[in-house]
Amino acid sequence: MKLLITGATGHIGKEIVSKAHELGHIVHFLTTRSSEINSLAPAKGFLWCPDQGEMDIKCFEGVEVVMHLAGASVSKRWTSAYKDKIRSSRIIPTQLLVQEAEKNKNLHQIRHVISASAIGIYPSDFNKMMKEDAKVTSNSFLASVVIDWEKEVDRFELLGVTLSKIRIGLVLTPKGGVMQTLKLPTLLGLGAAFGSGQQGQSWIHIDDLVEMFLFVAQEQCEGIFNAVAPNPVSQNEFMKALAKAYNRPYFMPPLPAFLLYLLVGEMGQLVLDSHWVSAQKIKDKGFNFKYPEIVSAYENLVSNS
Ligand SMILES: NC(=O)c1ccc[n+]([C@@H]2O[C@H](COP(=O)([O-])OP(=O)(O)OC[C@H]3O[C@@H](n4cnc5c(N)ncnc54)[C@H](OP(=O)(O)O)[C@@H]3O)[C@@H](O)[C@H]2O)c1
Repeated sequence: MKLLITGATGHIGKEIVSKAHELGHIVHFLTTRSSEINSLAPAKGFLWCPDQGEMDIKCFEGVEVVMHLAGASVSKRWTSAYKDKIRSSRIIPTQLLVQEAEKNKNLHQIRHVISASAIGIYPSDFNKMMKEDAKVTSNSFLASVVIDWEKEVDRFELLGVTLSKIRIGLVLTPKGGVMQTLKLPTLLGLGAAFGSGQQGQSWIHIDDLVEMFLFVAQEQCEGIFNAVAPNPVSQNEFMKALAKAYNRPYFMPPLPAFLLYLLVGEMGQLVLDSHWVSAQKIKDKGFNFKYPEIVSAYENLVSNS
């Protein structure tokens, strides 16, 4: 398969590129940074600057499948300027990609577009298990961003391609993200949940997420798929499992929600919202999770960190 990947230099993208190479696929990727063009060899990098409407269209040559992951991190303080960036860095690159793929049909054979999305699209709920057909509304910043992002992604349908949207949960990787943030407090025995600690945490091991993107491409699975492990846990259990993997005690009381909002502002939503999300749809397609349980997932990740 010949793939074009956006956001390839990020935490998830890098791992997809590496696995794709292992499987013998050819990878092109788009980056906004000229310094990164040769960083994922043998993958071939191409420059784009979505804000200026610019893209090196040679990236499309011979491409069959697009994996679209570009978007600014949500883990930086949500000032109003940064909130604009979180939104625009998903909408504008998607618009440019659709437009240029349409204009340059002679260069590619794109038959499938697989776009990242996020479980933040679902309303926060302490009880209900969310499936892909759950009703979504723009009642929070994150939900509204993801709804708008998915709407833009839907425009790929105009190209007559198979379209898949992968609603990603909390990705566990030893190389960054939540595990890196929680490592020091946990090692110091200061790991604690936030708010009530009862909020649902729908997580996924990075290896399973990478396998899922490639499975969806290989099996040509169409539609929306949640990318979460089949056994979400409460945040309290999530923090306890991490302490166990590091062989540290877990005794701290949860940090009250109001304190967290004081410390990090509106971004506290990331850990205070509750998401119990179902993995059944991708399982029904025949996908097997290597890490379905949080304890074994953390054990593996900690031993590789
Ligand atoms: N990690 C998670 O837990 C998680 C959970 C749910 C959803 N997701 C989604 O999955 C995608 C990938 O996540 P990740 O953790 O790998 O993210 P990441 O490490 O922050 O990487 C994202 C990549 O997007 C590119 N990018 C950023 N701003 C851009 C812009 N304005 N225009 C074009 N490209 C831009 C960057 O590539 P260049 O610098 O090379 O241009 C960057 O390497 C994101 O869209 C994210 O929202 C992630």
